[in-house]
Amino acid sequence: MTSLFKLSPKAISFDSNGVLQISDSTAEAVLKEASLLLHSGKTVAFPTETVYGLGASALSSAAVEQIYKAKNRPSDNPLITHVSSVEMIENVLHAKVPLVYLPLIQKFWPGPLTIILPREFDCPLSPLVTANQDTFAVRLPANPIARALIAYSNLPLAAPSANASTRPSPTLADHVYYDLNEKISMIIDGGACSVGLESTVVDGTVDPPMLLRPGGISLEQIENIGGFWSNIQLGKKTAGKYEKVRTPGMKYKHYSPTAKVILFLNSGDGKIAIKNFLHNELLIDKKVALLTTKLWNEDTTADCVYTTSLGRKGDEISRNLFSALRDADLKGIDVLLVEAVGEEKEGLAIMNRLEKAASRIVDCKGNRLVDLKF
Ligand code: TXA
Ligand code: MG
Repeated sequence: MTSLFKLSPKAISFDSNGVLQISDSTAEAVLKEASLLLHSGKTVAFPTETVYGLGASALSSAAVEQIYKAKNRPSDNPLITHVSSVEMIENVLHAKVPLVYLPLIQKFWPGPLTIILPREFDCPLSPLVTANQDTFAVRLPANPIARALIAYSNLPLAAPSANASTRPSPTLADHVYYDLNEKISMIIDGGACSVGLESTVVDGTVDPPMLLRPGGISLEQIENIGGFWSNIQLGKKTAGKYEKVRTPGMKYKHYSPTAKVILFLNSGDGKIAIKNFLHNELLIDKKVALLTTKLWNEDTTADCVYTTSLGRKGDEISRNLFSALRDADLKGIDVLLVEAVGEEKEGLAIMNRLEKAASRIVDCKGNRLVDLKF
């Protein structure tokens, strides 16, 4: 059985010394119950500012195994460890934070940035968290519930996104319930995630530093830190099944709704590209829907019964994307035509997720550019 509890982030705060304050007894009872479960090796899903995470004690292999099992996640794809303070990295994980990270931590923590650290010989993390690599990934989340859960239980939490492997990441407790009901012990419902895409993963243990996964903090924001970080390089977009990559997560199918996603690049108002695409594909008995972003408008979408706007701004598109992919499945959509965005600022992470979700990428005339799994 999976238990479901609501918890208002308003009941929680951290004082200027980073000490947890809980203002009502219901909130405390939920945190206590979750903490008991975590200490007994169980899994608890909780909201973060990016997406919902599926947490377990990062110090226990038996607990971390439950995460891989519930998600059906390949065991060579390592997990991010979540902490409630920088001291926890030093005192509990016995890791030193290299100086190059200090300006990033100062500017972006707590928040949607994950850093890669060397794993010391006495690091107590379960080897399942790091998939036997000599580095580990860590972040300090900004969502008060996430941070409170870690602080209250005094456990670093391994937490991937709380979706079934290959499905879009969850941005509502309902999404977690849909994918993982009966497979995990508890879900804490703290409302909708504010960022909507996962954290940015950076590796500053190499020179030049690498952006391993675009996410909630943009490449431009990191470059603007200056110095060492102004030279940050983009990691490879894709990798073969047996290729060893810096971010193993890159090689797996991801973010895929059941509907086939067709990604339209540089299509202007979309009219010509959509018309040509529909003409070529003869999708007569199929339920077709549109997801619009910057330029597709009422004119473009007039003939299409199912149209959803993700918003025109990068932060809105990020926040709404995963939920819209899941909604398409609930409506029984067969083919989802999606308007691409430019790769600046939030656009880089949005396009990274859309390219992984896509079955086909088409050009400004609706002609096939890349077939992935159409
Ligand atoms: O926003 C997020 O990061 C969410 C929330 C729940 O915090 N978590 C999340 O975790 O997205 P997950 O497991 O879905 O993605 C973790 C990513 C994967 O791409 C994985 O390959 C990479 O981080 N990663 C983990 N440890 C790594 C390491 N030692 N070196 C390189 N990449 C690593
Ligand atoms: Mg994930």
